[in-house]
Amino acid sequence: MASINPFEIKKEKTEDDFAPLGELWYRPYTADGSNPCSALRVLLACCTESASVFLKHDLVARCAAADLKREIALLARAEQFQQEGLSLFCREKPAALFYALFYEQLNEELTAAVAQKETDEYVKAAFDFALAEDCDHLYRFSCLIKAESDADAKEITGGITEIMPGRPSISQHRYPFDDVRRFVPFALSGVKTWIHLFAVAAVKRRTLDFYTNAGYLCRSETARRLFAEIALTEEQHLMQYDSLSDPSLSVTEKLVLCEYAECYLYYSAYAEETDEKIKQLWEKRFLREAAHLQKAAQLLKTFENKDYKALIPQENFPDPLSLNDFAEKNKPYIRKVLKETIDLTAVLEDYAKADEIPQNYAFFKYNGKVTRPTEKVASHSVAEKLIERDGKDYRFEESPHPVPEMRDRTRDNTRAGR
Ligand SMILES: [Fe+2]
Ligand SMILES: [Fe+2]
Ligand SMILES: [Fe+2]
Repeated sequence: MASINPFEIKKEKTEDDFAPLGELWYRPYTADGSNPCSALRVLLACCTESASVFLKHDLVARCAAADLKREIALLARAEQFQQEGLSLFCREKPAALFYALFYEQLNEELTAAVAQKETDEYVKAAFDFALAEDCDHLYRFSCLIKAESDADAKEITGGITEIMPGRPSISQHRYPFDDVRRFVPFALSGVKTWIHLFAVAAVKRRTLDFYTNAGYLCRSETARRLFAEIALTEEQHLMQYDSLSDPSLSVTEKLVLCEYAECYLYYSAYAEETDEKIKQLWEKRFLREAAHLQKAAQLLKTFENKDYKALIPQENFPDPLSLNDFAEKNKPYIRKVLKETIDLTAVLEDYAKADEIPQNYAFFKYNGKVTRPTEKVASHSVAEKLIERDGKDYRFEESPHPVPEMRDRTRDNTRAGR
């Protein structure tokens, strides 16, 4: 697909986003039998629309000029309309646990996809670090779903993502000082890194909200406990991503970047969508976002007297971001990341092997406190209980686990990474 300049797309009115409420209702999308990546793209778009709404609320709180606030409110309402339409479109599933699998799968596949395109090594390391942990989350929820309903997580996730232990969830509980990273100057990293961080943090924020708010919808105590435990680690990931953000960007600069990112993500979704009906939806959304982007560029000029070209000198989109590339690229990439990073933890703004840092370090104190006693930690007990019942855990591996210590399916490894 030829690269395009979204600033040159024919402009539409922002009010065109507003629709009669009765028309917001789409029949929930059924992914059964179709490309499972389409369903992931729908969920990703839900996440980015949510993030776009919340970013605008944050920006309104940061600006004094009433006329700028009104313009941001107008855009925020447009995003909320988009968000509602997509949420109604999401797959209908009988239990919150199914959505835990979808969120983890999206976290894993999206993070792997952006990490492979990321040129800033420090940001890439942050993606890899969280990736190894989301991989474990998917595994823990898959064990739970197997134990509670005998459902096969591979069938639910469409067989495109391997399911195996990552850096054990029990090792992920770190002291808050170790979740903060150095900020990445926008002037050096550029718009591509900004888009990657926007997308990954958008999914992370909604995943955190989901675990925080949907735990009480689960019937079993184990599921509720697992939701609560994983929510804690998702908050750590989100802190990592938020702390990478450049604090010097102004309100209207952030507005332009957000709209550019939304535009690019719909363009990417359109480029690889195989479901014709959904492809039309991406096209419409792309045009709406191009209108938002042009409006934001105008606000940057009016309120800061800055040209958008100073922010985005290469206006044409980078290559589309692919979520269809799982088999070829993501699977070997995720295996490589697990192999290279499973025994890492964070030490202030950097990473180190857990067995090479002093035993009196804050991580060990914090982790020791919140994971005591081990048998009461939900992420560990879901695997152990399944092993007790079936003689082995649940996995979907196409070849042996890339880390030899994680190959034993009759004992949960609680040592790696701590
Ligand atoms: Fe949007
Ligand atoms: Fe996760
Ligand atoms: Fe937008």
